[in-house]
Amino acid sequence: MTDIADRQFGEPATARRLRPFGESIFTTMSALAVRHSAINLGQGFPDFEPPEFVRSAAKRALDGGFSQYGRSFGLPEVNRVLSRQLLGTTGNEYDPDLGICVTAGCTEAIAAAMLGLLDPGDEVVMMDPCYDSYAACVVMAGGVPRRIALSLPGFRIDEATLRGACSTRTRAILLNSPHNPTGRIFDEEELAAVARIATDIGCIVISDEVYEWITFTRKHLSIASLPGMSARTLVLSSLGKTFSCTGFKVGWAAGPNHLVAAVRAAHQFLTFCSATPLQQSAIAAFANLEEYLPSLRSDYLRRRDQMVHGLQQAGFSCITPEGSYFIVAEHGHLGLGTDIDAAQTLVREARVATIPVSAFYGDPAANPHFLRVAFCKSDETISEACRRLQVYSRRRGQG
Ligand SMILES: Cc1ncc(COP(=O)(O)O)c(C=O)c1O
Repeated sequence: MTDIADRQFGEPATARRLRPFGESIFTTMSALAVRHSAINLGQGFPDFEPPEFVRSAAKRALDGGFSQYGRSFGLPEVNRVLSRQLLGTTGNEYDPDLGICVTAGCTEAIAAAMLGLLDPGDEVVMMDPCYDSYAACVVMAGGVPRRIALSLPGFRIDEATLRGACSTRTRAILLNSPHNPTGRIFDEEELAAVARIATDIGCIVISDEVYEWITFTRKHLSIASLPGMSARTLVLSSLGKTFSCTGFKVGWAAGPNHLVAAVRAAHQFLTFCSATPLQQSAIAAFANLEEYLPSLRSDYLRRRDQMVHGLQQAGFSCITPEGSYFIVAEHGHLGLGTDIDAAQTLVREARVATIPVSAFYGDPAANPHFLRVAFCKSDETISEACRRLQVYSRRRGQG
């Protein structure tokens, strides 16, 4: 049936600014996974339950009078817990009532940051490959994404390239560490370079740290903890990755009061407040963090090593991630063409869904060599996915 509005205007109903982004690659690959009964190593959500202390806190809140709107920028106790937590991780004191805004996941924090901070024409520098909502949110806010590529091999931040992309029009540099999709934890030298450039040109840094606790080789270092950087950094994160509850959608932005005021200005008109019973679970989540972390890390380390080994057995060369729950795997041995071709063939014929890494680039032709594989999955799922990939690889080798 033709939509009335489409007929009236003779073009798609979607606003022009959003058309170039099309459908999210995660939606596309998840739908293909369902269609082909494939194991979904595409979208980054765990196929296991959150820890009991998180689930029971949410259930208690549902029965305990937390069913109505809460304070727009976060339930008071939740903001206090986050402030204490951030003091530990960044060394900075964020005012619970002025320097923190609880949002509907980090996704909303990203959107609210862009909508609250950008004026039309303001530029935001981001480093490809990067999370797909960044550029879309900048454009929705009337800003201009300036995309540079992390340097290969190794996906490192190159100071000269980053400096070259920055100008007096740059409002913010967007950083994500531990990094999706590459699993990099940017080191002190790289973070210092970002800090130097932001300070020199007088822009802010928006630091997406959702994988802050899923680290293997070294601890995550927030750029907000570098000298002078707390005053110009907005830290974004969420409960979803750390506590395996991506569907709870509880996130936050923390920073100097004036930056958080801008985030709040947008947030109040986006969601007003995030789901109150689920916010409540943040209190129990962080009360248990210290005890929970060793098992979180050792479980993810085991899954990572199992997945890297399984992928290598199937002929992929992998960059072993330092953090996050993603691996980028080079698919050239399969001879399947671009990463988009490879992902589509694998979901159909090996029945394993992955994400083409080119989807994380502004220019999809830029780097078609890698697939992103999520290992936030049970040991059984990982083992079966690797078996399928190995069988497919052998079949192709023989064919
Ligand atoms: C880098 C990055 N930022 C933000 C998000 C979204 O976080 P949330 O689920 O809390 O909205 C994701 C989810 O995959 C991510 O990978």
